[in-house]
Amino acid sequence: MKDIVATKPTTSLTKGITLFQHILAQQTQYPDATGEFGGLMAQISLAAKLISRQLAQAGLIENVLGFTGEVNVQGEAVRHLDQYANETFIRVFKDTGLVCLLASEELEEPIALSNQCPVGSYALLVDPIDGSSNIDVNVSVASIFSVQKRGADSTSGLLQPGNAQVAAGYVLYGPNTMLVYSSGYGVHGFTLDPVVGEFLLSHPNMQIPTQGEYYSINEAYSPDWQPYVRDYIEHLKGAKNRGERPYSARYIGSLAADFHRTLLTGGIYLYPPTIDKPRGKLRLLYEAAPLAFIVEQAGGRASTGIERILDIQPQALHQRVPLVIGSPTEVTLAETYAQQGTSHS
Ligand code: AHG
Ligand code: MN
Ligand code: MN
Repeated sequence: MKDIVATKPTTSLTKGITLFQHILAQQTQYPDATGEFGGLMAQISLAAKLISRQLAQAGLIENVLGFTGEVNVQGEAVRHLDQYANETFIRVFKDTGLVCLLASEELEEPIALSNQCPVGSYALLVDPIDGSSNIDVNVSVASIFSVQKRGADSTSGLLQPGNAQVAAGYVLYGPNTMLVYSSGYGVHGFTLDPVVGEFLLSHPNMQIPTQGEYYSINEAYSPDWQPYVRDYIEHLKGAKNRGERPYSARYIGSLAADFHRTLLTGGIYLYPPTIDKPRGKLRLLYEAAPLAFIVEQAGGRASTGIERILDIQPQALHQRVPLVIGSPTEVTLAETYAQQGTSHS
């Protein structure tokens, strides 16, 4: 059951309207909508504005750049902004009744944000700051979010496959701040107008090109890749010699930023398994699955190379997964390499 339905472009897709106006306009078309989802998105956008403001002051005020000295459940050093963003998501939802459970990259276990948390109530899973290593060098970072309805599984109720997501999206803190989301009916992008303090619709009904010109992968790990990954990347490099449109490489090192470029221009992003990280690095529930939800809504594809990301049944909250995501043409070919696991000429 979804609150929001927007199956085709309507007046709610007029550029320049606010995020909240866009959601309200869609809700008016569906009498069953409770309005809770609109409230949830309003609070996500508030968190995004607070984090965006904090980032804008990096270097000017204390405790924005650098490390806190703590280590998170992933074994990664926590930066001040990871902590600020995590606390911001907790603060904007606490006692609102909009979200019963919050799971985060920065929290070992989900936390309850409401006294009552029945099956079917909203749960939010976040990567509060994605691309943390880029904070201190003034390069784009993001927040990634996934909205579920709490399930009935024995643990937290959050171990649901990505195709059960109610909504997903990300906020990209780049030259401007953009919120991109889907509630299962298209992908819509909003740009923060910092003077008005509102996210305004700038990219209605986003569609990924069927084929692109960039590939994105951390090539420093190529000695540790499985042979099929090397073969596939070599195939892309050979496009020019085959008289095809050549590829160029781009790698920011912030997943959501690399994904956003891929969404707009087409192409492929890969974080494959390596010898050190046999399951890859990216987290299924709050990195891969939400971006897979977005890309499929935009006409693209996401898989491990072998299996569709949205079909994976999670076994653990912080589970990692290999990711191959982007335009259908490139992802399909990468899957052919992965499935055959052999060289192609
Ligand atoms: P996070 O900052 O949330 O821990 O995520 C970092 C991830 C992802 O954003 C990025 O694409 C990837 O790590 C980069 O990893 P490598 O440095 O291994 O390429
Ligand atoms: Mn991340
Ligand atoms: Mn993170």
